[in-house]
Amino acid sequence: MKLFVALLVVGLPALAAAHSWIVCTDYLENNGWYWDQAKCRGWPRAATYYNLRFGAFGTHIDNNYTWRLDNHPEERALCREPRDDDRRYTEETPMAAYFLGQEVVLTHPANNHVAESKCRWRNTMDWENLMFVVDGDDDPCCIDSPKLIQIMDMGVSPYGRELSDEVLATYPKPGFQNVPKFCEDPDDAMGTYNFTIPMDLQPGRHIFVWKWIRDPAVPPFTTCWEADVFATKAGRDAHYLATGRSTEDMWDFYKVHNIVDGVIMDPVDPSINEIITG
Ligand SMILES: *[C@@H]1O[C@H](CO)[C@@H](O)[C@H](O)[C@H]1NC(C)=O
Ligand SMILES: *[C@@H]1O[C@H](CO)[C@@H](O)[C@H](O)[C@H]1NC(C)=O
Repeated sequence: MKLFVALLVVGLPALAAAHSWIVCTDYLENNGWYWDQAKCRGWPRAATYYNLRFGAFGTHIDNNYTWRLDNHPEERALCREPRDDDRRYTEETPMAAYFLGQEVVLTHPANNHVAESKCRWRNTMDWENLMFVVDGDDDPCCIDSPKLIQIMDMGVSPYGRELSDEVLATYPKPGFQNVPKFCEDPDDAMGTYNFTIPMDLQPGRHIFVWKWIRDPAVPPFTTCWEADVFATKAGRDAHYLATGRSTEDMWDFYKVHNIVDGVIMDPVDPSINEIITG
């Protein structure tokens, strides 16, 4: 009985840590397996303060649980850190730059929220994953603000008792639970999303907002950041070159690596890859 109680006490904080946040706002690898801070070109507000770059990915145990860039906008402002471009970005964690039509990759920690029968429950919900751009230069008041213009619905992940192990363990998945290495580290494994910059967005600096509802009974989570949007990739590239960053575009893990039965069989033979991808 004593052991059971001890387990409960240890287990509860992990279960209660029902949080997540965007760690990188312009990541170089879509559907990747493991976080690599060197692949991150753009960061959300206050990323240096929250130690998102050099800290362990997804960690939120340090400093008495205060170092989590998560946010419940029903309880606080829509954005955890109010807009202040000069102070929210640093040389180490600069603001992202996008171009019209770009497919942008975002990363986030799983924080136990993946339906994976091999190591967790099959019925871990995923309810809504949306991207917004803000109309205007000020933070909107709240999650229902008409200033939030939806630009992408990133889908939801499959979950449910009736689903097979195969469905639940197949990646990539749409939605939040696109976390291929979840079972290796359910708390801190990396998930990725991608979203597209609309072709009709006005070039210039914009506020972007991510919203995740994991369960309709739980308030949504949000992360806010700025990005400079360029009309063309050439414009974006010039900006990244001038600030010492890569001009590579998103590449997909499954196109770059040759995966056989869950094992990376690199180096990829380009001719084989061409046959696989079409
Ligand atoms: C907890 O917070 C206090 C005050 O902010 C800080 O001095 C202390 O180092 C923190 N403890 C841990 C384990 O991070
Ligand atoms: C990008 O995201 C969309 C929307 O979630 C998804 O349908 C698509 O499969 C993703 N693309 C890749 C290459 O993963």
